[in-house]
Amino acid sequence: MLLPDKKEEASRDKRKYKTIDYTIDKKLIDKYKGKTFYLKTYGCQMNERDSETLVAMLKQLGFEEVEDYKKADFLLLNTCSIRENAHNKAFGMLGRFKHLKETKPDIVIGLCGCMAQETGVCEELLKNYKFVNLVFGTHNLDKLPELVDKAFENDERQIEVFSREQDLVEELPVIRSNKYKAYVNIIYGCDKFCTYCIVPYTRGRERSRKKEDILKEVDSLVKDGYKEITILGQNVNAYGKDLYDDYFMGELLEDIAKTKIPRIRFMTSHPWDFTDKMIDVIAKYDNIMPSVHLPVQSGSNKILKLMGRRYTKESYLELFNKIKNKIPGVTISTDIIVGFPGEEEEDFQETIDLVNYCKYDNAFTFIYSEREGTPACRLKEVIPMEVREDRLQRLNEVVNKYFLENNNKLLGKVLPVLVEGISDKKNIYYGYSDTNKLVNFTSDKELNFGDIVDVEITEVHTWSIDGRVK
Ligand code: 5AD
Ligand code: SF4
Repeated sequence: MLLPDKKEEASRDKRKYKTIDYTIDKKLIDKYKGKTFYLKTYGCQMNERDSETLVAMLKQLGFEEVEDYKKADFLLLNTCSIRENAHNKAFGMLGRFKHLKETKPDIVIGLCGCMAQETGVCEELLKNYKFVNLVFGTHNLDKLPELVDKAFENDERQIEVFSREQDLVEELPVIRSNKYKAYVNIIYGCDKFCTYCIVPYTRGRERSRKKEDILKEVDSLVKDGYKEITILGQNVNAYGKDLYDDYFMGELLEDIAKTKIPRIRFMTSHPWDFTDKMIDVIAKYDNIMPSVHLPVQSGSNKILKLMGRRYTKESYLELFNKIKNKIPGVTISTDIIVGFPGEEEEDFQETIDLVNYCKYDNAFTFIYSEREGTPACRLKEVIPMEVREDRLQRLNEVVNKYFLENNNKLLGKVLPVLVEGISDKKNIYYGYSDTNKLVNFTSDKELNFGDIVDVEITEVHTWSIDGRVK
């Protein structure tokens, strides 16, 4: 049994990590033919991308995927720790699995991902969730085949969670869940240690993939007919800093833009590392989408400092304006937390003022959630939950107003949209514009999924817009 340790998870050093290729024990291939698995994924795009690899590895073992957990021999939760509700959902699901195990004692139940990296969670699983057979973390995802095999072969529980990052593994198998849009990891982990955030503990230090490996993956996606990639990292702007002296996110973006991939998006960008080079490259290349996610978290300098965000409201706005001025037609989205410890009404008003200034095209708004072991958790000036909820509601009213106001300006305009699907009921296609707006649209001719078509906007709503193909 190997359990995580928070102190070790928080430690950082310049230890070199190796890049190694994924291998699977030949004896395990197809060993589980005839067996089924159920996988549920919580959380961010990084987790979704990890799950695409988990699925591929399980299929190598011979498992077949089922949608109904009651029909599965192996049940796995790929979990998220970012806020308490993600936690609660996963524990709720484990409760349902427990019932199933009572009638089907041979099933194997597993939990992986960010929650597995938390000492408290592992202790809870050990004590009160004895029916969970397998726990592994974010640093040994590639070991899934042998861990699953051990869990099926042994009665003993398999708990293997590394506190520190391991070698970086390339050539991992993947079965992508979408035929036209793909995620491409460029950097793992985070060294920013914003005081509220658990990610630096659960995902380890920043480790960039080699540029050759990334470009090879993008080239193969182009060959396979993919139309859009989203470059992923907890903080993509830190790309290359741990690996190269003169090759960073701007350079990588430019090299990716030079491939034939029609659409490039990236997330998430910390305002701290957003360079002029990046802005110039985004402005220069048509296949880098003019849509930037730039989390602000708060509009109060006092709170930004307590959050350890490394920028002020003024420097954020300077960057915001630079991006707006240099990238034609760019849309900007953000993340905001309300109710961080010490946030007084005036601080919250500063956040509202900032939103009134930035008029974001999209915003993900959150109630501050205490994460065990993070520095913010020790702050004394805790904001009562009713106040947090009230602020969230007031903030949402303001952000929603601007979504609609911005969308109104699109009436009559023509936007390029990637055709992603069709809704059965109304024969209406849907997809996203270059600026990341969800568009529902009609067409006189039948369209191919994966095409990029020009859509004239005829009606707008808060969270989506309607149109017809030109
Ligand atoms: N409480 C609430 N929101 C959080 N986020 C990260 N940690 C927390 C937390 N402890 C939000 C931030 C981040 C987004 C991914 O989740 O806004 O940008
Ligand atoms: Fe968390 Fe993002 Fe801050 Fe990293 S940069 S600590 S992932 S909020």
